[in-house]
Amino acid sequence: MLVHRPRRLRRTAAIRNLIRETNLSRHDFVLPLFVSEKIERAKAIPSMPGVHQYSGKEIAAIAQRAHESGVQAVLLFGIPKSKDEQASGAYAKDGVVQNAVQQMKERTPDLTVITDVCLCEYTSHGHCGVTRLDGEHFHVLNDESVALIAKTAVSHAAAGADMVAPSDMMDGRIGAVRAALDQAGFDQTGIMSYAAKFASVFYGPFRDAAESPPQFGDRRSYQMDPANADEALREVELDLAEGADIVLVKPALPYLDILWRVRQRFGRPTAVYHVSGEFAMVKAAAEKGLVDERAAVLEIMTSLKRAGADFIVSYWALDLMEWLKS
Ligand code: PBG
Repeated sequence: MLVHRPRRLRRTAAIRNLIRETNLSRHDFVLPLFVSEKIERAKAIPSMPGVHQYSGKEIAAIAQRAHESGVQAVLLFGIPKSKDEQASGAYAKDGVVQNAVQQMKERTPDLTVITDVCLCEYTSHGHCGVTRLDGEHFHVLNDESVALIAKTAVSHAAAGADMVAPSDMMDGRIGAVRAALDQAGFDQTGIMSYAAKFASVFYGPFRDAAESPPQFGDRRSYQMDPANADEALREVELDLAEGADIVLVKPALPYLDILWRVRQRFGRPTAVYHVSGEFAMVKAAAEKGLVDERAAVLEIMTSLKRAGADFIVSYWALDLMEWLKS
């Protein structure tokens, strides 16, 4: 009798394509965009090669071009002209994001615009909520911050945002945002919650891009400890119960286990944010000739989808539209 030894299938390119479990498509990516009230012309962000801040005058055209090259959705961040303790620029009717959204939706109605909802770009101290200083110590005031975050979300929806993305990690914010949106008549506006957002060193370059580094202290009192996975699942569960439509895990590669568990456990739309520091690392290595950028990016994105991401927020979204054409 002939005994067959287990063996791997020998693969031609066609067989590889036929049996591939994870496929990347041009529909899998959301492009982050930065709009600044402080500039007249596009400004490069030194820590993020190829990424720019755009002026209010340029942003709608940039978004349109992105849409024409295949990007279906953008995630918008704003940099206001001035900041204050109450983050009043975040919820101003004619604030930087509100104006930009209006113009983007007018020019490109089919582009889905998701707005990042946070106070850190708008507070003079750079924290994601309002704070109180008691001598040496500062406290982020949760409930006061949540009220302003909900107000910000409503102002984005009023400007035409398709979806809002609270990224602050205050307690109870998703329920508050949902209630405020519904009450203002925006029951069709979705919520993508940064549900498992870790206090990460990999946000460094973003804080240059958004001009939002904390002026004192750090964000560890409200962002998650990288050592905790069960706690991340509890955060996600709460956000879903409070009304999140999509939950987001962030950063990406160091947290593949979280992504996997969130997708397996809840089976709800799950996104991942491949963040600025992760982007900068690959860029730096590629610039030195140490890795091939395109191959590295395709492998990373495939891994994120394999681990359970329905879609990926990535600074490479535009490049990926080209790379995934064929
Ligand atoms: C705002 C916010 C941050 C990022 C997205 N929204 C930074 C932070 O929490 O410090 C990071 C995105 C990136 O690094 O690409 N709270």
